[in-house]
Amino acid sequence: MRKRVFSGVQPSGILTLGNYLGAIKRFVEIQDEFEAFYCVVDYHAITVPQPPESLRSQIARTAAFMLGAGLDPEKMTLFVQSDVPAHTQLGWIMECTATFGELSRMTQFKDKSQGKESVSGGLFTYPALMAADILLYDADAVPVGEDQKQHVELCRDLAERFNSRFGSVLKVPEPLIAETGARIMSLQDPHKKMSKSDPNPSGYISLADSKDDIAKKIRRAVTDSGREVAYDPEEKPALANLITIFSHCSGRSIDEVVAAYEGKGYAEFKKDLAEVVVEALTPVQARHDAIVADGSYVEVLREGARRAHEVSSTVLRRVKEAMGLSLFIDPEGVRI
Ligand code: AMP
Ligand code: TRP
Repeated sequence: MRKRVFSGVQPSGILTLGNYLGAIKRFVEIQDEFEAFYCVVDYHAITVPQPPESLRSQIARTAAFMLGAGLDPEKMTLFVQSDVPAHTQLGWIMECTATFGELSRMTQFKDKSQGKESVSGGLFTYPALMAADILLYDADAVPVGEDQKQHVELCRDLAERFNSRFGSVLKVPEPLIAETGARIMSLQDPHKKMSKSDPNPSGYISLADSKDDIAKKIRRAVTDSGREVAYDPEEKPALANLITIFSHCSGRSIDEVVAAYEGKGYAEFKKDLAEVVVEALTPVQARHDAIVADGSYVEVLREGARRAHEVSSTVLRRVKEAMGLSLFIDPEGVRI
């Protein structure tokens, strides 16, 4: 039997090149090898305020970009989190399994809450819902970027704790993180990850950026001192980030890219980098636009939610039974 993977992407803005290289491109690469469940995690997105109209369109566009990147509805299951009732239900149970101390140690929470006057309770318990997402599908592995490693480790701890209290009920998943490309950095600050919530749009390339925007952002990207195109993540982190992007977008190894620019300056490298990024993103954008225009994502998400409900409701039942929670009413509220 094929092993299972589960992963989620927040519809909290237009996806970036970091999301694409760190997560979605890999989702596509592994959809043959694994039985894959991919989820647009809208409940996670509302941990910070989202205007309804833009949330609605972001959910559609996130799904359309994922399909546009090459996810195939014949091969994998794609769905929206809020369409499947088991997520919040197991989410609550995971909140009761996690401790306050554990949740307080999550670096993403610390980063996102820092300096904010008001932070939702959901932003704090976010990793418990993420654990529920994964555990509901008996996932063997979770393909994510480096920034999500701590959350997946917490998910493992919660599953192990649950099993030690209630018997062997939950599958303990492994993170699946690539060696390179799992942490694409901001074009303006190589010590910050590329993020769609960056207030400065020059820091990220969005999947919806035009050719001109992409070229402009790459031209303006910070580089390190020196003139040589050399890969040195410690001493030259900004350039190393650009070389990593080049390598992933072109399919050439880091060594090949460095060798190709021996004796050439940053300007030529950046000009070619803009071309390879545009070449990688243009087909994804064209398919995204077509999918949004014809609305075909709707049927994919509907069928995805049906399939996800089938799997997740069975796991939720197992959990409730082990804990002594009521089984008289099933998760849909239908008498059994
Ligand atoms: P998010 O947009 O936070 O929902 O992230 C969706 C996926 O993209 C997760 O697996 C993240 O780890 C991954 N991701 C987000 N930003 C980056 C980045 N800058 N580099 C690599 N992966 C990323
Ligand atoms: N927290 C993840 C992120 O910000 C999104 C996410 C939610 C997720 N649920 C998940 C990722 C389950 C993997 C598995 O990127």
